[in-house]
Amino acid sequence: MDWKNQTPQGQIAQVIVEFLEVAVSSIVFLKGFYPTRAFERRRYMNLVVQKAVHPQLADYIHSVTTGLLPFIQKGLVERVVVIFHDKDHVPLEKFVFKLAVNQSYGSELEESSLEFALRAFLIKLTVAGPLTKPLPSDSSWEITAYFRSLPADGAKDKEEDEARLWIPTDTKAWMQPPQITPIKSMGCDPLKMQLYLEQPGPSAEAEDPAS
Ligand SMILES: *[C@@H]1O[C@H](CO)[C@@H](O)[C@H](O)[C@H]1NC(C)=O
Repeated sequence: MDWKNQTPQGQIAQVIVEFLEVAVSSIVFLKGFYPTRAFERRRYMNLVVQKAVHPQLADYIHSVTTGLLPFIQKGLVERVVVIFHDKDHVPLEKFVFKLAVNQSYGSELEESSLEFALRAFLIKLTVAGPLTKPLPSDSSWEITAYFRSLPADGAKDKEEDEARLWIPTDTKAWMQPPQITPIKSMGCDPLKMQLYLEQPGPSAEAEDPAS
């Protein structure tokens, strides 16, 4: 990727997808979903992080995050969510990255201040363990992206088809508003990003869905 010939939005999208790849890996590590040998310690933004090395796991995380690049660049992606499900595909926890890339931003990207801000997310993730609940043994997980809008009519068919791949189909919704725990947020133009944890609301197990 030729950094110099990119628009600020192209550059930031590149930084975001690399960050998301590491962040998703850190979340899956944090949840203890796989044996620790599926990960190895790597340096990223001058931090020690846990990067997935198990081939299928690493490929999945890499291909999903990299696949989002053109959509993040155009400001179409609103949320990237790491969802943990129980055996009936009911969500147990969601790690939500809510992002907005300023499409009017035209200045040089300040890479160092951006990295500084993103690093803080990774640091917070390493200590987020106490906020999360242990997973049952038959749980599963996936990465989902929610779009602000699909590429407009007139977009190339291929692009629209690619965007449609990201529409979640079978994730069940919670009956009650979720409990939201903020983990970290930043607003460093051209990127605004929040990371928060969603868990079923306190009354999610109540029988009466009318209240
Ligand atoms: C987006 O960038 C433009 C140009 O730098 C700036 O004037 C504007 O305030 C930014 N918008 C937001 C929402 O930060």
